[in-house]
Amino acid sequence: MARSSKETNAESEMTIPSLFVDSSISHHYANHRHAYSEEVFQIIIDYCRDTIQDLDLAVDVGCGPGNSTVGFTKYFKQVVGVDISGSQIALAPKHIPNCEFRVGCATNLDFLPAASADLVSCGLAFNLLPKNE
Ligand SMILES: C[S@@+](CC[C@H](N)C(=O)[O-])C[C@H]1O[C@@H](n2cnc3c(N)ncnc32)[C@H](O)[C@@H]1O
Repeated sequence: MARSSKETNAESEMTIPSLFVDSSISHHYANHRHAYSEEVFQIIIDYCRDTIQDLDLAVDVGCGPGNSTVGFTKYFKQVVGVDISGSQIALAPKHIPNCEFRVGCATNLDFLPAASADLVSCGLAFNLLPKNE
């Protein structure tokens, strides 16, 4: 039977782009997605340092298996990766002390205190986020 273009995560009732529901796709993505170069993180950090003195918290939404997240850990005290797909988050690294990963929608970051993030990043996922939210 053909898959619908969107499926719902029963636990959270969140809509997940169907490509990343399937754990075999997530494994494929994690194994073959190129890493971002250090230069990309450096450009973002230089930009942040123009206006922010202490880099306390970065939140990377649509983080996938952490490709776009982990590079921030050497600059920020705390880094949180958020992705709507549990199978993507399952493949994110668990051994980095100042980095945690959570299943959740980018448009609902209520677990964070208001105005606590110094940076909210989104790598190759913005086009997938719900519009108008
Ligand atoms: C192309 S991957 C990008 C992963 C990673 N940021 C990177 O640069 O490799 C897009 C990711 O966005 C996630 N995603 C899609 N809609 C989302 C939403 N509403 N909230 C959070 N993550 C979402 C998908 O599950 C997928 O892991």
